[in-house]
Amino acid sequence: MQRGEALKRVRENVGNENLVKHMLATEAIMRALAISLGEDEERWGLTGLLHDIDMEICDGDMETHSKIGAQMLREWGMDEDVVKAVLCHNEAHGVEAESRLEWALFCSDALTGLITTTALVRPDKKLASVELRSVKKKYKEKGFAAGVSREQIETCKNLGLERDEFIELGLKAMQGIAEELGL
Ligand SMILES: [Fe+2]
Repeated sequence: MQRGEALKRVRENVGNENLVKHMLATEAIMRALAISLGEDEERWGLTGLLHDIDMEICDGDMETHSKIGAQMLREWGMDEDVVKAVLCHNEAHGVEAESRLEWALFCSDALTGLITTTALVRPDKKLASVELRSVKKKYKEKGFAAGVSREQIETCKNLGLERDEFIELGLKAMQGIAEELGL
């Protein structure tokens, strides 16, 4: 599937603009990870872009979320490695990530939330003015963006990346598409 087609399907299935932006942010981080790790940028990007495609269809029900999405991707002919990454990014199914693609989606999914929330507390609410050190500081404040699992971000270690390195990569990737993210 081409990226344009994938984005069209995201738009068809997701009405909440913030959720679309979360998927775009996840895509951007996945692409940056793929480049840095010598993996397939298009494949990793598509996995990030499509990963929450079923969130509104399943009405946020974590028991079905990502199972439905995986089935949709399978029906669209996506490769099984992408399907499995989407399936296991939701821990509720008890399928732990194994491949690099699976770990990449798992940790990127959480990092978007930390970076977005850091931008939103800036006076100008802009990603451009977010410094790496402020994201690192916010990471350590447990009460900040409390819904963002630090443990999940830490799984970047399974890709051979240190947390700070990963945060830096994610921040740059999201700053690169700041306009699309409206941040
Ligand atoms: Fe997500």
